[in-house]
Amino acid sequence: MFDNPALLLDSSATPSGKIHWKSPSNIAIIKYWGKYGVQYPRNPSISFTLENAFTETVLTYEPKTDQGDGISLEFTFHTEENEPFRAKIVKFLESIRPIFPFLNQLHLKIQSGNSFPHSAGIASSASSMSALALCLCTLEDELFQTLQDDNLFDQKASYVARLGSGSACRSIYAGMAAWGTTNAISNASNDFAVSFSEEMHDIYKDFHDDILIASKSEKSVSSRAGHALMEGNAYAAPRYEQAESRMKRLVEVLKNGDVETFGEIAENEALTLHALMMTSNPSYILMRPNSLKMIELIRQYRADTKNPIYFTLDAGPNLHVLYPETVIHEVLPFIEQKLVPLCEDEMWISDWVGEGPEQLGE
Ligand code: DP6
Repeated sequence: MFDNPALLLDSSATPSGKIHWKSPSNIAIIKYWGKYGVQYPRNPSISFTLENAFTETVLTYEPKTDQGDGISLEFTFHTEENEPFRAKIVKFLESIRPIFPFLNQLHLKIQSGNSFPHSAGIASSASSMSALALCLCTLEDELFQTLQDDNLFDQKASYVARLGSGSACRSIYAGMAAWGTTNAISNASNDFAVSFSEEMHDIYKDFHDDILIASKSEKSVSSRAGHALMEGNAYAAPRYEQAESRMKRLVEVLKNGDVETFGEIAENEALTLHALMMTSNPSYILMRPNSLKMIELIRQYRADTKNPIYFTLDAGPNLHVLYPETVIHEVLPFIEQKLVPLCEDEMWISDWVGEGPEQLGE
């Protein structure tokens, strides 16, 4: 939908410049799990955009001296060359040339780095792909002034981020974002995410999402492979229906501030995601013994204190602990004393609902 063959530079043009974006990760409450075509979701999803887990990407561009037809890219990750990452990005840039045909005409340098340790086992595709998509849209706008409208800019950045990694399309927006057509949100689309921050109740605006690293090891099965396994999963069809009906309930409680129902849906979604992994063929388990221990401690603490503290999980072993800012003074000592000792090397990241991506160094 964003293909545009007109975006080609005049052969006499010699543009050069530097673009710098910081873009956050996100945590889904209703999970995207299962896809078709070019990164279209089988069901709607909705997430909190985070603040402290982010990628910073600097894109430098200059005229290409060699006029060959390929993508010309130098790439560093945390200041070091990284050929596997570079090859992945070249492939991605090649695939989006119908959207940005000028990419063939420039020499590009991408420097990227994450705020969280690469070894933490935290998925970084959402933050890195959204940062790259934002840089590319800014590049288009610098060269052609075609994305002056902020809504159009965000929509295109979200569309391009989606092509890089599905969940990345939601990171473009502050607060909350939804992706995938659903009766619960009238403007939702499979092509890009839409903001949900206007609708959300104040209680969620500074909600916490502390990330407890149960294991730093790389996942044994990638998200890409996990999505593919949904195609043969016996529970796939009812799962997609369930996601739609949960979305409707969740949207209601996001609007009315019913944190208890929010937490019930969040936990059930996390366990559904992992149940789908366990019932795939071949089956696999990404939770670790300490993930389960933390889940039990959170539920016990909640039963004992009545404090609203819940968990969700990504496609990995790490716990995301969700709670409103109002209970931080009680909840934080529990996290530090009971949960952090169960983390690998006591590693955890304090995070919360964030302000969305930011362009730096303008
Ligand atoms: C469990 O977005 O990482 O985090 O589209 O193949 O890049 P690709 O997958 P990815 O899947 C994320 C799945 C999830 C749930 C979610 O974020 O909605």
